[in-house]
Amino acid sequence: MNFELKSMGLVAVASEKCDALVLLVPEAYKTGKDDLSQLVAQAIKDKDLETRPGKLLALYRPVQANALRVVLAGVGEGNAKQVRTALTAVLAGLKGTAIKKLVVCFAAPAREDGVRAAVHAVADASYTYTTTKSKPEGRTLQKLLLVVSNASEVQGTFERAVGIVSGVELAKEWANRPANHATPSLLARAAHELAKLPKISCTVLGPKEVAKLGMGSFMAVAQGSDEPLRFIVLRYDGATKSHAPTVLIGKGITFDSGGISIKPAPEMDEMKFDMSGAASVLGVFKSLSILKPAMNVVGLIPSCENLLSGRAVKPGDVITSMSGQTIEVLNTDAEGRLVLCDALTYAERFKPRAVVDIATLTGACMVALGGVRSGLFASQEDLGAALFAAGEAAQDLCWRLPLDDDYAEGLKTGFADVANVAGRAGGAITAAKFLQRFTEKFPWAHLDIAGTAWKSGAAKGATGRPVGLLVEYLMTQSAHPNASP
Ligand code: BES
Ligand code: MN
Ligand code: ZN
Repeated sequence: MNFELKSMGLVAVASEKCDALVLLVPEAYKTGKDDLSQLVAQAIKDKDLETRPGKLLALYRPVQANALRVVLAGVGEGNAKQVRTALTAVLAGLKGTAIKKLVVCFAAPAREDGVRAAVHAVADASYTYTTTKSKPEGRTLQKLLLVVSNASEVQGTFERAVGIVSGVELAKEWANRPANHATPSLLARAAHELAKLPKISCTVLGPKEVAKLGMGSFMAVAQGSDEPLRFIVLRYDGATKSHAPTVLIGKGITFDSGGISIKPAPEMDEMKFDMSGAASVLGVFKSLSILKPAMNVVGLIPSCENLLSGRAVKPGDVITSMSGQTIEVLNTDAEGRLVLCDALTYAERFKPRAVVDIATLTGACMVALGGVRSGLFASQEDLGAALFAAGEAAQDLCWRLPLDDDYAEGLKTGFADVANVAGRAGGAITAAKFLQRFTEKFPWAHLDIAGTAWKSGAAKGATGRPVGLLVEYLMTQSAHPNASP
């Protein structure tokens, strides 16, 4: 899909040929003398149009415009949430209509967050998954022309949003693919594809190399499956070697059956999304190749299936992680932390400026925060604050949860250095406390995206989160290379 930003007056907008023109009308709308403005003013006067977000007035071939369809849409003050609400309503109304070229016009100077929201909302609503359909009906929308009166002011925001959308769509694609079309080997192939892009390189480790590194914890999860594990290492080199990289680690469980501690059947299919963290890392690299910030980023993806078999790891087994710490596997369904801990230890070799892991880690996080905000944990205040702020800016929200040492009490066991589960209470936090044991050598943050990575029910599908948050964070860091993480 193609995006363009242009400064244009309403007279020029009216003569623009397109399948649909959406005019975003704010409360502070000032009527001009042109025909389109007069139409809007009349509609407001007649109370056929309200400027509240979500309120729409749809017209077909009005004489005032060259567009087939015109939708006047209220946007209140034109902030991100209001623009998103307005455009989501408009595009829901246009569903089923083959729109190839869409023009969205801000009828007052556009705010930066409004522009960002417009790009995201249109991309989101027009995305369609087709990979495993025999007769794919892809996205019909080919072009979004965003019209504002102040293009030079919002150009940077617009370009960043377009770069993020490209990463979000790659993340959606891989997270949506069923587990038999997104095996660890196929994820590795996707990473190799990314390495064809500028400044990106990739290496992939298999079972032998991983065994040599001593990743006994990761290997224990993989051993119940016939699909060989993959440990993917992506690099984005946008700055000289002297710049310490930021490391992103994505949980890449391509299917989570729970293992011997098997999950109940209802909704088990959704565990194909258990590699959404990995998909978000792939997405971030795609965005980086477009936005080209001056910084270094490493992406690590420990990927395998969590299945049951005669060789599967059993409750009570004690395994040895790459860090040397022994782990009692009390529940084989708490496998995410077992693959992540070895990736965290591996991250030490990069002497990172910060490490952020992204994982669909706990049902408990979904219970705590629902589908609105991801769970955020950080071992350092400024890292936590920077990630939180990036989430707000990108409208990809998260919320800090605590890391008090008292939460780690339940992980104690007499049979190993640590157990992989504590009780039911505070499950998202005890999982984070488990991970924290492997992060002593660098500033560390953890995003639990169990509630936000995909939607269930009729709108089942990956969201591409938290690519927006992560790219926003990285871009802000690259602008301040000497600041703390
Ligand atoms: N992948 C799941 C977490 C999950 C569950 C995400 C449902 C989204 C929806 C993870 O591997 C898991 O099974 N976690 C267990 C941990 C428990 C055994 C301590 C959970 O949350 O039930
Ligand atoms: Mn699990
Ligand atoms: Zn899992």
